[in-house]
Amino acid sequence: MDQYEYIVHWVLARTPAQRRRVLDFGCGSGKVVAKLRAAGVEARGCDLYPVDRSRSVLATELGIAAISPMVEGKIPFPDNYFECVVSNMVFEHVVDIDLALDEIARVLRPGGVFLCLFPDLGVLREDHTCIPLLHWFGRESRFRVAWAASLRRLGFGHRTFSGSGRAWAHQACDYLDRWTVYRSPAVVRRAFDQRFDSRTHIEDAWLLARLGRKATWVRWMPAPVLRCIGRRFFTVAFVCNRPEVGSATTGLLNDETRSINNRCESESPQIP
Ligand SMILES: C[S@@+](CC[C@H](N)C(=O)[O-])C[C@H]1O[C@@H](n2cnc3c(N)ncnc32)[C@H](O)[C@@H]1O
Repeated sequence: MDQYEYIVHWVLARTPAQRRRVLDFGCGSGKVVAKLRAAGVEARGCDLYPVDRSRSVLATELGIAAISPMVEGKIPFPDNYFECVVSNMVFEHVVDIDLALDEIARVLRPGGVFLCLFPDLGVLREDHTCIPLLHWFGRESRFRVAWAASLRRLGFGHRTFSGSGRAWAHQACDYLDRWTVYRSPAVVRRAFDQRFDSRTHIEDAWLLARLGRKATWVRWMPAPVLRCIGRRFFTVAFVCNRPEVGSATTGLLNDETRSINNRCESESPQIP
């Protein structure tokens, strides 16, 4: 199955309560939002659209309310609005990770789930260019363009950029400089763990689902090995929770906490 189908399957596998309202953060052209809505989920999308505003054209097809442009990094929904947030291949583009995560934590209901897929610096293959390790070089590196050009000549690299050899390599490096912000696994962990609970890595399940029937040759591998393959060669994939009100990590709720959570449930504002 493709990446979009995987996310839709993942959401639909949640309990009905967990998937009641779903936000696709950095939804791009809105494919996930469209598929979820077709499956009956009240899905919304938001995006900064810094790259190409024409991508938001799908918003009109879905009905303007389904996809909302973000202004100054703010998610245009009230606090505690969503039971579930998903984000696919966005965080390697996010400049201000603290603002993005604060916003997601704000709109996610206490106890809500957050599925996040994106490459960090631990991934060996740079996905936008398909050149191994290209994101490891510093901008000022004298070897970076030569590395990309050499591998391109050997047959690596997406066709996305035009030209060949050095011209192609310059475009690929320019794209990375302009549009990506790769972070180390430690920085990513710290940023997420400050706001969310119980980060659970699921690269093994993700890899098996993506491979489908082709997974026969890896299915016998232990989960940690599959997770390692997934996050080294493709993407980081994890699920975390917004902590329940009043419970740091235990998930055990006292009466006061329960009543606050129930209030969040009943006072949730309606957005047209
Ligand atoms: C590679 S695209 C992925 C789009 C979509 N999630 C998908 O899977 O098709 C990355 C998206 O992240 C969005 N983006 C980048 N920084 C963002 C931010 N700080 N907040 C929200 N979206 C952002 C970009 O506008 C772009 O649409």
